Amino acid sequence: MSISKLAEFGTRHVAKGIGRLATEVIESGSGSYVTMVSGRKMLDFTSGIGVANLGHCHPAVTKAAQTQAGKMVHAQVNIAFQRPYLELIQSLLPLMPHKSLDTFFFWNSGSEAVEAAVKLARHATKKQNIIVMQGSYHGRTFGTMAMTRSKTVYGENYAPLMPGVFSVPFPYCAQCSIATRCDGKYGPENCCMDPVDQLELLLKRETAPSDTAAIFIEPVLGEGGYVPAPPGYLKRVREICDKNNILLVADEVQSGFGRTGKMFAIEHYDVRPDILVVAKGIANGFPLSGIVSRKELMDTQKPGSMGGTYAGNAVSCAAGIAVAKAFQDEKILENVNARSKELSGMLQKAKADHPDMVYDVRGLGLMLAVEFVGGKGYAAKVQAKCMEKDMLILTTSIYDTLRFIPALNITQEDMARGCKIIQESIAEVAAS
Ligand SMILES: Cc1ncc(COP(=O)(O)O)c(C=O)c1O
Repeated sequence: MSISKLAEFGTRHVAKGIGRLATEVIESGSGSYVTMVSGRKMLDFTSGIGVANLGHCHPAVTKAAQTQAGKMVHAQVNIAFQRPYLELIQSLLPLMPHKSLDTFFFWNSGSEAVEAAVKLARHATKKQNIIVMQGSYHGRTFGTMAMTRSKTVYGENYAPLMPGVFSVPFPYCAQCSIATRCDGKYGPENCCMDPVDQLELLLKRETAPSDTAAIFIEPVLGEGGYVPAPPGYLKRVREICDKNNILLVADEVQSGFGRTGKMFAIEHYDVRPDILVVAKGIANGFPLSGIVSRKELMDTQKPGSMGGTYAGNAVSCAAGIAVAKAFQDEKILENVNARSKELSGMLQKAKADHPDMVYDVRGLGLMLAVEFVGGKGYAAKVQAKCMEKDMLILTTSIYDTLRFIPALNITQEDMARGCKIIQESIAEVAAS
């Protein structure tokens, strides 16, 4: 098919419901760049939505997958243990945010892993209800659609969804009605903790602790706007869970694997999750997800009740082992923290330069966002300018927000280039 016809063919034959950022067709990717079929090279600040965290086609990851593909692609987890599956666990054990997280179950997608966590929580506690955060994103399957509260489009017209899901406000200080009305008295460093009171009220009014299996939380709200939980909040949630025999589930599908400058975002808060949900960066693009919990909890589930045809695929696991090794060999977390300072410094400067346009700058590591003053469509306008300047960049949330998810090993030079494009784009929109 001729290059000029590819996009047209896609528009005709690919389901419209997928939605797409760029109109051009991607041919290849390397490091922080993707190349379109036209030859146009674009700086990628989306990383396949936080998946290709070590850059596109990281050589060691690609090689590990190639080698495994020549040995064994698929034997299926219910048939026998497979070497890469076990060696991946061996690589991940020292990286876990708490030593109690010692038993693994690998799946394919983030949504499936979230549902596996729901299954485990219900089965282990013999309770049904689930509490999620308003603004959360947990996926698009029937179970996770019910849990996703970031935008109505994900659930609209698909009801009935999984019952037994209740929601409470996430401590999103920039949009909190208390913080915004108290003139600087409260904020991300000094949260009013009203969401903790709301959680306690929910347990009194709507879902009794004796009916509540788990609280699911993204330590940094992802699709909801890249909002880190304020200090102290997660500890309070942990206390509520302990008091009421409720499991705490950290959905680190997006915030995990170095994205926030620590291996897992929950480490910023010194809180132990009962179940950790992982996906995306775990294998740098090869389909792999999982849940990790303590053995006595995980092993309440009977043999045969877990598993799936492609779960923990050998090639994906081999890629995952190479990812874990690269984190050490290439000092990835050091790079995340160095580059984060450069990007957030530029965004803070943009806020100072354009106070009528830039409302909030936030995030951890290389999971950063800028929220614009609402009602003017600024995020989409800045995004369009960045795209004109050969940069892929994403908006997020129902508020006017741009999110930045570059590769965790982005070079200083490419970060400088990205910062320049963003800075110029914001200035051009401000001047228009
Ligand atoms: C926090 C979080 N949980 C779950 C999911 C769902 O993962 P998947 O798209 O692989 O099903 C996502 C995807 O973006 C996510 O960000």
